[in-house]
Amino acid sequence: LPENWPLAGSPDRGVDLHGVGYIDWYIPKMREKRDHDLSKSGLPYDWALHESADSSKMLAMAWAGEDPRQWIAEREQVSVEQVALAQGVTQGISLAILAMMPPADGSQRSSRIAVEMPAYGPTVHAPRLLGLEAVPFDRMPEDLDGAEAMNEPWLLDRGQLSKILPTVGALVLTPVLNPTGWGLTKDDQEWLVAACAAENVGIISDEVYLDISRGYESYRPFHREGAHCASINSLTKCYGLEALRFGWVIASPERAAAARRALQSIQGEIATPSIILAKCAWPHLDRVLIEARKRHYENTATLGILLKKHGYSWTPPPDALFGAIRLPDLANSFEIMDMQARDLGILAVPGDMFHPKLGNWMRISWTAPPDEFKKSIPNLDILLQNL
Ligand SMILES: Cc1ncc(COP(=O)(O)O)c(C=O)c1O
Repeated sequence: LPENWPLAGSPDRGVDLHGVGYIDWYIPKMREKRDHDLSKSGLPYDWALHESADSSKMLAMAWAGEDPRQWIAEREQVSVEQVALAQGVTQGISLAILAMMPPADGSQRSSRIAVEMPAYGPTVHAPRLLGLEAVPFDRMPEDLDGAEAMNEPWLLDRGQLSKILPTVGALVLTPVLNPTGWGLTKDDQEWLVAACAAENVGIISDEVYLDISRGYESYRPFHREGAHCASINSLTKCYGLEALRFGWVIASPERAAAARRALQSIQGEIATPSIILAKCAWPHLDRVLIEARKRHYENTATLGILLKKHGYSWTPPPDALFGAIRLPDLANSFEIMDMQARDLGILAVPGDMFHPKLGNWMRISWTAPPDEFKKSIPNLDILLQNL
């Protein structure tokens, strides 16, 4: 089987440069258009429902020259100087790393960055492309087979991190963990913020899945935690606008200015169509979050009943667009997706896209409208029966 998980390690460039293995696997699968696609971690949302977001009108709209950072600043209640635009979170990761790392002065910590696993590939690979060594740390239980692994948030290994932090300049993490959907606990967040401040380590937080918790206690973006913290977000997942590639970095004014200067050299400007379309979507964003929570509520109830029938003890993560289950021991979810699941028209995401130890885990997204999600249940039932 191919190595599809993110690969940490030394700087990476040249003809053997690593891609994101699972993208090569996933895109052809997605194009098969299986009837029961439970792989989509972005909310499928019919933006054409809103008249002002009609696509032809959007493209005809003249770009009025306003600063999109202003909309983000207002929504996030930060100053406009704290915002840098990015063409999606994926690009924002590189911009934030460039802004948050200490200057290259030949010291060990100026060339190393800690990267959380399990992870979305680019959070681990981007630092390597920028000439840094990516030093992995795990946020997962030691006993992945334990009953709790599917029922509670995974915790930071504070012992392991305490050893790594003095040797790195920054750290990258994704509070809402992909693939489990469970958030970083408040206790872990507070510990990490303090530990990184003590060691002068910058925190780069990929918050692409966080906004489903907006308005709830669990909404704790890192940019509020101090000048050593940066949040990256976009309209991709919780707002269902993946194709737009509209994202941003929020950090201290100095760091955000550095991210903006990095963008000048990496990309120049954000594509104007992304900005125009984001402007059309902006007044409706909260409506989409309400829909995302509704789907979470109804679809996790539906899924919970099915999983219970098959003997799984599973608690849905409270604020997520997806969750993950551990399949029977010898199952490999890559093979399952290529064989049994294909025959049933099901597509879900293998856990070892995120960490090599998650080969028998499968991520199930509940982003579909509840009526549609229910239609996938009989086939998922057969799949679980046959494992
Ligand atoms: C953790 C994480 N961050 C970011 C992204 C992509 O974000 P964007 O489309 O804004 O680049 C993904 C997509 O799967 C993801 O899983």
